[in-house]
Amino acid sequence: MKSYQPKTGGQSQGNAKPVIITAALPYANGSIHIGHLFEYIQTDQFARILKLQGRNVKYCCADDTHGAPIDIKAKQLGISPEELISRFAKEHQRDFADYGIKFDSYYSTNSPENKWFSDYIFTKLKDNGHVYEKTVEQIYCPTCKRFLPDRFVKGKCPKCGAPDQYGDVCENCHSTHDTKDLIDPYCSICRSKESKPELRESKHFFFQLSKFSEELKEWITNHEGIQKEIKNQMLGFIDQGLNDWCISRDPPYFGFKIPRSDKYYYVWLDAPIGYISSYANSIGKKEGAVLSEWNVSEIIHDIGKDIVYFHLLFWPAMLHAAGIKRPDKYIVHGFVNVNKEKMSKSRGTFLTAAEFKELTDPQLLRFYFASKTSVKVADIDLDLEDFVEKINSELVSNVANFIYRCTSFLHKHFDGKTCASLDAAFLESQDKLACDILEHYNNFDLQEAVKNILTLSSQGNKYFQDNKPWNLVKENPEKAEEVLSTCLTLASRIIVLLKPIIPNLAGKWESQLNITITSFSDLSKKLVGHKINQPEIILRKLEPIKVGKDSEKNTVENKTPGFEILDLKVGIVRKAEPHPDADKLLVLQVDLGSKQIQLVAGIKRHYSLEEVIGKHIVVVSNLEPAELRGKKSEGMLLAASKDDIIGLLETPLSSAGEQVFIEGVQPSNTTITIKDFSQLKITVKAGKVVFQDKQLKTAKENIRSDKVSDGRVS
Ligand code: 2FM
Ligand code: ZN
Repeated sequence: MKSYQPKTGGQSQGNAKPVIITAALPYANGSIHIGHLFEYIQTDQFARILKLQGRNVKYCCADDTHGAPIDIKAKQLGISPEELISRFAKEHQRDFADYGIKFDSYYSTNSPENKWFSDYIFTKLKDNGHVYEKTVEQIYCPTCKRFLPDRFVKGKCPKCGAPDQYGDVCENCHSTHDTKDLIDPYCSICRSKESKPELRESKHFFFQLSKFSEELKEWITNHEGIQKEIKNQMLGFIDQGLNDWCISRDPPYFGFKIPRSDKYYYVWLDAPIGYISSYANSIGKKEGAVLSEWNVSEIIHDIGKDIVYFHLLFWPAMLHAAGIKRPDKYIVHGFVNVNKEKMSKSRGTFLTAAEFKELTDPQLLRFYFASKTSVKVADIDLDLEDFVEKINSELVSNVANFIYRCTSFLHKHFDGKTCASLDAAFLESQDKLACDILEHYNNFDLQEAVKNILTLSSQGNKYFQDNKPWNLVKENPEKAEEVLSTCLTLASRIIVLLKPIIPNLAGKWESQLNITITSFSDLSKKLVGHKINQPEIILRKLEPIKVGKDSEKNTVENKTPGFEILDLKVGIVRKAEPHPDADKLLVLQVDLGSKQIQLVAGIKRHYSLEEVIGKHIVVVSNLEPAELRGKKSEGMLLAASKDDIIGLLETPLSSAGEQVFIEGVQPSNTTITIKDFSQLKITVKAGKVVFQDKQLKTAKENIRSDKVSDGRVS
C-alpha cells in the first residue's frame, strides 16, 4: 500500500470524536457462555478496529449486579449478595481475558458512581415531572415474605392446563398470558403448599414512557445508526402504544435504595446507567466532567435482539428526559445456535466460556465468529464440524501456511533477511483489496473483511507457488530474494489486517516477523533490509471437536483423553549450573531447535553437571512459565521416579525440537498449568514410558527412561 490514511469518524465519517463502545452487561449470577462470547468478542473486535484507525476508544462494560434473582441466589447459597457478585466478577474477568477480550473498563453496577448517576437521572426525571407514583397489585409469597418476579411463579397454564408453567408463556401450548392468571400458582423458591402466592398492593414509581412516544418516533425514524429491521420493530412497538414503566421494587431486593423512599430502583433502571459509570471508571474523572465528555462522544451499544426494548425505548427516553446524550449507534445481533439448534444443556451444547476453552484455542473462536459477523440481525450458527473445517482450510492451510512458507524460506536461504527491492507491481495489485478490507472494517462488516483477507492470502500463496522460489534460489538467487521479501511484506499486511480479529495469534506472528503493529497505517510499511526472527509453526490443524453424546463416543472409541493438552519436545541440554539460591535445583539452558529456553529442575542430587550437559531430554514446552526461587523456568523436563531414585526421560537419537507423541494424538497449541499436567498419569512400565498403555515416542525412537524401569513420571 502506497500510503494509508487512517479514517477518522468510523461510522459517521469526518469527525474524530472519542468513542464509547459498550457490550451488554452480563448478570452477576451466572457464567459467561458462548452466546455471551459472540457479543463480547465482536465488540472487542470493533473496539480494536477503531483503535487501529487511530481513534480514542473506550470499550466499557460491567457486571449487572442488582435484582431479586441475585438476592435469592445469594440466600440460597448462604452468602451475601456482595460475595456472590464478587465471585462472578472474578470468573467473568478470567473468561474475558482467556478470549482476548480487552475492556478499557470492566466495572460493576454496584459501584458508588452508579449510585450517583442513578440518583442523578432519577431526580432529573422526577424534577422534570416524568415520574409519578401509583398503587399496583403484584404477586407476593407469604412464606418467603417477598414480592415475586414473574419467573419465580409457576402454575397450570390457564389455556391448556399444562402443569409447572412460567408466568408469561406456556411451553406446552405456547400461549402467552399474565402471571396473575396462572391456575394453582406456587412460589418456585419455597414451593410452599400451605401458603399460595397472593396478590398484594404496593405503591410504585412509574416513568412516563408514553409521553415520549412522538419524541422517540422521530428520533428513531431519523436515526442513522439503527439497523433497518430494528427500526421497523421499534416503530411498530410505538404504534401499538407504549406503557409507562414501573421503575421501583420492594424489599427484599439487592440494589440501590431510592432516595427518601423505602423502595429500590428496578435493576433495568440502573443497568444501562452502568454504561456511564463504567465510562466514568475508565477516565477517572468527577461525575460532572464525565457527563460533559459523554455528551461529546460517539456512543455505540452492541446488544442482542432480546433487549432492544430496553435499549431503544426506555434508555433513550430516560437519557433525553435527563438531558444526557442518546446513543449514536446500535449494533444488534441475533442468537447463537450450536450445531444448528438452540444451545441445550441436555445435548451438551450449552457451553460455558471455560468449557469451550478446553476444546480449542479461544483465538480460533474469535476468527470463526468474525467470519459470521455481518451487519444483519441474523442468528448465527456455531457448527462444530464447520468450525474445524473453516479453521483448518482458511486459517491454517491458507494464512498460517503462507506466513510460515515466507518466513521459513527466507530464514533458510537468506539468513532471515529481506533485500532492498520488492516486486512493486505485485504489491500494488493488492492495494485495492486492502482498501476494501479497511472499508468493511469501517462498516463493522467483519464477515466481508475476513473473506477478503483470505483472498489476499490466497493470492500470496499463488504468487509464491507461481514463482517457485525453491528453483529460483538455485537459478536466480537475487530474484528469489525479491520474491520472498515481497511475500514477507504481504504477510505483514495480512497480520496487520488480522490483528483486531485474532490479536494473540497476530502477536505471535508479529514477533516472528520482528514487527510491531500499532495502527492500520502499518499497512504501508515495506519490509526491506529487514531481519526476521526464528520461524515457528504456531497453528496446526484441528482434530474433530465433539460435544455431548458424540464426545462420549469419541472418547471411548478413539481418543485418549488428557494427552492432547501436552506439547512435548525433545530438548538438548546445552548448559547447566547450580541454582544460586536452592540446593536441590539446577538451572539448565535447553535447545528446543527453534529456540533456547531456561528450565529449573530439581535433579541436582541425582545428576552431576557433566552428566546432564548434552543429554537429549523430554520437555513439556507448553507449560506456563514460572519463577522458581527467582529464576525463570519456561517449561519442565520429564523424569521418572521410584522411591528415592530419579531418572530423566531420554531420546538420544532424536534432534532438538522433535515432537514427542503417542499414537493418534496431536500436540496442543495452548498453554497449560502445572496443575493440568499433574492430572495426567504417565508411567514407566518395564522400561517403557507409557500413557494409558500407549508408548511415548518420537519419529525416530521410543522414549527411554534412565535409571528407573518402573515408576511414575512427573
Ligand atoms: O440481558 C441481560 O443480560 C442484561 N443483564 C443486560 C443489561 S445491558 C444494560 F442495560 F445494562
Ligand atoms: Zn416462596
